[in-house]
Amino acid sequence: MATVTGQTITQLILSVNEKDVENSYRQYFTRKFSDMIFTSPFACDGLGESKSQKIRVLMEFKDELNLLSKSDQIKVLAQTVYYIKKFELAGIMLPTTVFVGDRNECFVIHSNDLFKYLSMDLDWSTAPSNAHKNLVLVNEMMLDENINPHIFSIHNIDECVSKLKDLTEGITRLIPITPHNLTEVFSYFEKNVLGKHSLNTNDLANLFVQILINPDDNYLHPVKKRKTVVTKSFNDVPVKTRESFTSFFSHFSNDYTPKQKEGLTSVVDRLIQDVTRRKQGEFFTPTIWVDKAHEYIASVYGDDWKEKYVVWDPACGTMNLTRDYKFKELYVSTLNYSDIQTAEQMGYNPEAVKFQFDFLNDDYDFLPKGLRGDIESGKEIIVLMNPPYATSNDLGNVKSIETKSKKGVSNTIIKEKMLEEKLGTCSDQLYAQFMYRIYSEIKNVSICTFSPPLLLTGNSFKNFRDKFSVENNFVKGYLMNSEHFADVSSWGLTFSIFRKSVNSKKDIFSYDILELNEDYSIISLGVKSLYNTDNINSLNEWVKVKSKLNNTFPNFKSGLSIGNKERKFNSDSYSYFVTNGNSVEKNDSNCYFIPGPPNNNKAGSLVFNENFDKVCVTFTSSSLINGKWYNKKDEYLRPNTENINYDQFVKDSIVNMLFSEKNGQTSLRQITYKDQLWNIKNEFFWMSKEEMMELANNNNYNELYSDARTDNNRYVHNLLFGEQNIYEQLSPDAKLVLDKATEMVRMSMTMRSHFADDHNHLNSWDAGYAQLKLVWKEYFPEEFKEFRQLYKNLENRMRPLVYELGFLLK
Ligand SMILES: C[S@@+](CC[C@H](N)C(=O)[O-])C[C@H]1O[C@@H](n2cnc3c(N)ncnc32)[C@H](O)[C@@H]1O
Repeated sequence: MATVTGQTITQLILSVNEKDVENSYRQYFTRKFSDMIFTSPFACDGLGESKSQKIRVLMEFKDELNLLSKSDQIKVLAQTVYYIKKFELAGIMLPTTVFVGDRNECFVIHSNDLFKYLSMDLDWSTAPSNAHKNLVLVNEMMLDENINPHIFSIHNIDECVSKLKDLTEGITRLIPITPHNLTEVFSYFEKNVLGKHSLNTNDLANLFVQILINPDDNYLHPVKKRKTVVTKSFNDVPVKTRESFTSFFSHFSNDYTPKQKEGLTSVVDRLIQDVTRRKQGEFFTPTIWVDKAHEYIASVYGDDWKEKYVVWDPACGTMNLTRDYKFKELYVSTLNYSDIQTAEQMGYNPEAVKFQFDFLNDDYDFLPKGLRGDIESGKEIIVLMNPPYATSNDLGNVKSIETKSKKGVSNTIIKEKMLEEKLGTCSDQLYAQFMYRIYSEIKNVSICTFSPPLLLTGNSFKNFRDKFSVENNFVKGYLMNSEHFADVSSWGLTFSIFRKSVNSKKDIFSYDILELNEDYSIISLGVKSLYNTDNINSLNEWVKVKSKLNNTFPNFKSGLSIGNKERKFNSDSYSYFVTNGNSVEKNDSNCYFIPGPPNNNKAGSLVFNENFDKVCVTFTSSSLINGKWYNKKDEYLRPNTENINYDQFVKDSIVNMLFSEKNGQTSLRQITYKDQLWNIKNEFFWMSKEEMMELANNNNYNELYSDARTDNNRYVHNLLFGEQNIYEQLSPDAKLVLDKATEMVRMSMTMRSHFADDHNHLNSWDAGYAQLKLVWKEYFPEEFKEFRQLYKNLENRMRPLVYELGFLLK
C-alpha cells in the first residue's frame, strides 16, 4: 500500500496545474496531522492550523518555480508578507511559519524572519499576488541574509515537515493589538481586567494605550496582595484580579516597535470617540467589521474597486467606513456638520469631497457637481453605508430599532414619497428611506450596506421589495451579531451587496455567519439562509381557523391568572393558542396556550378538532427552537406535509405540547369573572375520567372524585386512547414521557389532596400540566427531574425535524 508521502509525491508529479499542486499538499498535511484545519483568509492558498501540534502555518503553492533560486523564493515570500500584513491589519493571530511548495520542491521558514517587513511604509492595499512587483520590498528581501531556507525535494517532504514542527515548538505568538482591533480589545480590557475606578472614557483610553506602549512605567503592583496597576499618569488603578491582568498580557502582546507604538498613539482620539459613542448606544461600525465589508466588496468588484468606482457614503458620521482606505473618487456626506468637522480635524480621507447633506430631506440640487455629473451620466456608483436604523427621533441610535415609530417623528420628505407610493409600514424606518432614495434616484447603483435583515425578510418590506426588485439585485453578504456594534441586545445584522446590474430572481439569500473569535479575528460559523414569506404561506396563517367569537368568556393573563378585559370567545373551542408573530423571536414569550382569550392584544388562534394537528405541530416547531442572534428573524413556513416523517411528528407533537412549560391550559372551578362564576374544562387532559375516579377513591380524595363523577372524558384522552388509538402510534421516547406523566399523576394523588387550594385548582380532576407540576415539583423532585429529562430527550430528537419538515430553513 502506498504511504501518505509516496502518494503525495506521485500526485505532485502528475499535477496538471497549480490547483492540483495545492490539493496534493493540503491532502498530505491533513493526513499527516489529523486535526489540521485549512482556511483561506484573504483568499490566501491556505492557513493550516493543528491545535494538538500548535502549528499555524501559512502556505503558498506554485505550479513550478525554481525554489533553489533566491529570486523565486522572494517572489513567493513577498506575497506571503502581504498576506501576513492583512492578518495583522485585521487583528488575526499571525502564522508562526510559512510553507512554500511547488510540484517538485518545498521549504519552510519561521515567520519571525518576515515580521520586520510589516513595518515598512508600503502601499499595503496592493493585491498580494502583485507583491513581487514592489521593488523596494523585493530588494530588501533579496539582501536579507536571514532568508536562506533549506530547500527540500518533494521526495524529502517529511523532513521539511519535521523542520516545520521544530520551528513551531516553543513559540507562542501573542496577538498584536493594532488600530484595527483596538476598540474591541479595549472593551474586553475594560470589562474583564479593570476593577472599580473613577476614570472617564478619555483617561481610560489613554491609560490603556499607555499600558501597551510603555509597560516599564505602567505595571502590576509589585506587592503580591495589591490588585492595582501602578501607572505613570493616573496613580494606582484597580484591576479585578492580578490574574486578570497577567492573563490579558499572556494573550495580547505589549511589545511593540516604535512605529507600531506611534500607530497606537495616533488612534487614541478615535478610540475615545468610538467608545463614547458605543456607551451612548450609537451605532458606529468598528474597524474590524469595516475591513470585512471591504473584503466582501473587493471580492465582487475586484481588488481595485476603490480606484475604479465612484464611492459615496451618505450617512458617513465620522467616516468609519472609509477612513482607513484611500479612494480615487470619494464622496462622504452626513447630517451633522460637527461630524464633518471632526473628520477634517482627524485628517480622515483627505481625498474625499465632504459635505453636509440631509439625505432624507435635502434637495438633489445640493449635491456636489461632480457627484451629480456621475449620477446623471449613468456611471456605476457604489453607495457604501451604515444608515441609521431607528426612527427619526433618535437618529443613529439603534436602541429604538424594534420599537414602533412614534407618530410624526419620522416625517421626512422621503417618507411622504414612500407613503404616496403605498410602501407601507417600512416607510417609518430610516434605513428603508435611505434605500428608497438611492434606488429611486441613482440609475446605475450598487448598494453595499449594513442593515437589519428585515429588508429582505420582513413582511413590512414586501411592497418595497416588489417595487425595486431588491431581491433580484442581491449578490452576497454576511450576518453578524449587533452587539459588536454597540452595547445593545444581540440580533442579527447584515452587511449586504445589492447591484442593480445583477438581476436574477432569488428566493433564498445566503449569508455567511461571522463571529469574533477569541483572538479577535473574524471566523465563519457557517452559512445562513435568509428568506421571506412573500410568496409562500406562513405557518401562522396556515394554523388559523375562522370561527365566530360570540360568547362572553373569562380572559387570561396566564393559565392560573384571570384578567378583567372584555374579550369574546367561542366556548366550543378547546383552548386559545397565542401565536403572536411568525418568526423565531416570538418563541420565547409569544407562543403558548391559555384556556380562553388573552387579556392583551396578542394574536393567535382558537383550537378545534379541525385544526388540532396543525396547532400541535405549530406549537412544537416553535417551542423546540431557541432564538439565537442569527436566527431570531427567521420566518416560519407551512411544513411539507408530504414528508414521510410528517405524520409521526404530528403524533409526537401532542405529547410535546401537553408537557411543555408553555402550555398554560388549565382546569378551573368556580372562578369569578364579570360577577359570574365559571368552570373551565381542560380538553387537553389525557387520562380517563374512570381512572381518575378510581385513584380518588383509593386515596379518599372526595373533592376530586365528585368533580369527575358527572363529567366526560376529554378530547385528548379520546384522541390518544379512543378509536384512533394514537397512544400506540407514538414514538418510544414520546410514550416514555406520557407514561411517566401518568405514573406521576398516580403517585401524587395523596399529596395533591393536601396541596390543592383555590389558587392552583388541583381538585379539578382534569388539571393540566401547569397545575400538576406544582405538586410534582414540591413533593417528588427526583421523579420530576427524571420526567423533565425524558421530555428533553424527546425534544432533542424532534428538533432537527423542524428543519427537515420545512417549518424553518437552515
Ligand atoms: C449608524 S450611524 C453610522 C455612522 C458611520 N457611517 C459608521 O458606519 O460608523 C448613521 C449615521 O447617519 C447619520 N444620519 C442620520 N440621519 C441622516 C440623514 N437624514 N442624512 C444623512 N445622515 C444621517 C447619523 O448622524 C449617523 O452618523
